[in-house]
Amino acid sequence: MGEVIQLPVEEVAPEERPVLVLDCGGQYAQLIARRVREARVYSELVPHSISAAEARARRPRALVLSGGPASVYAAGAPQVDAGLFELGVPTLGICYGMQLMAQELGGAVERTGVSEFGKTEVRIEPDGELFAGLGSEQTGWMSHRDSVTAPPAGARVTAGSPAAPIAAFEDPERGLYGVQFHPEVVHTPNGQEVLKNFLYAVADAPPTWTAAAVIEEQVERIRAQVGSDRVLCALSGGVDSAVAALLVHKAVGDQLVCVFVDHGFLRKDEAAQVVETFEGHFHVPLAHVSAEERFLARLEGVADPEEKRKAIGEEFIRVFEEESKRLGEIKHLVQGTLYSDVIESGGDASVAATIKSHHNVGGLPDDMEMELVEPLRLLFKDEVRRVGEELGLPERMVWRQPFPGPGLAIRIIGEVTRERLEILREADAILQEEVRRAGLYRELWQSFAVLPAIRSVGVQGDERTYGYPVVVRAVTSDDAMTADWARLPYDLLETISSRIVNEVPAVNRVVLDITSKPPSTIEWE
Ligand code: XMP
Repeated sequence: MGEVIQLPVEEVAPEERPVLVLDCGGQYAQLIARRVREARVYSELVPHSISAAEARARRPRALVLSGGPASVYAAGAPQVDAGLFELGVPTLGICYGMQLMAQELGGAVERTGVSEFGKTEVRIEPDGELFAGLGSEQTGWMSHRDSVTAPPAGARVTAGSPAAPIAAFEDPERGLYGVQFHPEVVHTPNGQEVLKNFLYAVADAPPTWTAAAVIEEQVERIRAQVGSDRVLCALSGGVDSAVAALLVHKAVGDQLVCVFVDHGFLRKDEAAQVVETFEGHFHVPLAHVSAEERFLARLEGVADPEEKRKAIGEEFIRVFEEESKRLGEIKHLVQGTLYSDVIESGGDASVAATIKSHHNVGGLPDDMEMELVEPLRLLFKDEVRRVGEELGLPERMVWRQPFPGPGLAIRIIGEVTRERLEILREADAILQEEVRRAGLYRELWQSFAVLPAIRSVGVQGDERTYGYPVVVRAVTSDDAMTADWARLPYDLLETISSRIVNEVPAVNRVVLDITSKPPSTIEWE
């Protein structure tokens, strides 16, 4: 008999075998998807209403049913297709998801009268697959009123807490697993280990979702989409457009042309850094439009915040259109859509079809009939940063704090003039430098200077001065929806204040903004 030769097994890209997280309405579904990805396994969020046939068509490695706010018995409580449990795909139910499984699969869920909220001691039974390598006492973060009082038929109870004797169950034969506590939150110290046990040992999902793999995969996709056509990308200086541009450049080289409209409202040295990084370092073809004069002329006499934003937005589009016309016929446009935009807009199809029109600079003309290239649409922001690092983008660009499209123009309260821009740029640069020196730059959501166009009296040397105040604004936040003013150390504030008044002659006063959002906003305009 001849030798049996093993045929090479083709490795599928991580996205082709996703872990599907069914969103049962809890606040944690997105967090679960992110934690799975942190374990280097690709995952996607899908609605709980996905049918078993649709799920099967995605060839998932595993399914995770998220928590939900409701009781499984409440009217209108999210349900899932019972056919999902027959697919032979490893499935993990978390909190509400676990209760749904119990209810659907012959177990029982009841309101026992005892709720659990917060950190809870959980006793682990030996030999549970989800808890392999963990001690017999674990802390789990709980949030439930109903409890599972009988596991699904054939499932074994693998953990219990004082109020929930069935805090976890497993049925390895059918690939069904449930946990009452939330492994995805940081308050469950070994939660990530539980998820990893499920992903690696139970679902046999390899940890292949790495920045390098993302790049390789996206490069292939971009090549397939673009062919030999030309591609246009608007660079803003922000991390998203930078990473998107670099991915496309890696894929199709000089078929990419980047347009960088410098409206003159960027921070100190920022425009030069964009040019140096893209043209100098990465050799990306770059049309750099220095349009400061134009923008300043357009803003003459404009003090109203809304009018200011509108004027900048319109001017931006005009300049961008002129520039792209000059470059000739280009079929594709790069857009830095992120996975969070995809989720927010309610799914896949809707975003692809339209160019997202921000009402600000960076928003592109929405009547441009170009095919979109969106190399970041599978990625969360932190993943974009990892890909940026892997592509060799400088640390300063990768970790840049958010910066509004209209830039410094909306941090000058009142009319924007060249003189005020220069003052604010200098003051802001000092603030940035000191915040970085104090090691706080990454910790803060944003830290920046604001220049209200008013003057107050001061004294320097023997001279009476009549100068501008500069406001220090620094906030912590997770998503910019709410924000808290940052408690910067007094010593740091002292250094910032004295450096600004000493080094920026037009400024004689530094004040600190101590309001949170709400009631304030992060920006002043
Ligand atoms: P507010 O000031 O509303 O800002 O609390 C929330 C977040 O959004 C940023 N921001 C903008 N980003 N274009 C942008 O790209 C804009 O016009 C714009 N306005 C505000 C702001 O910096 C903060 O992170």
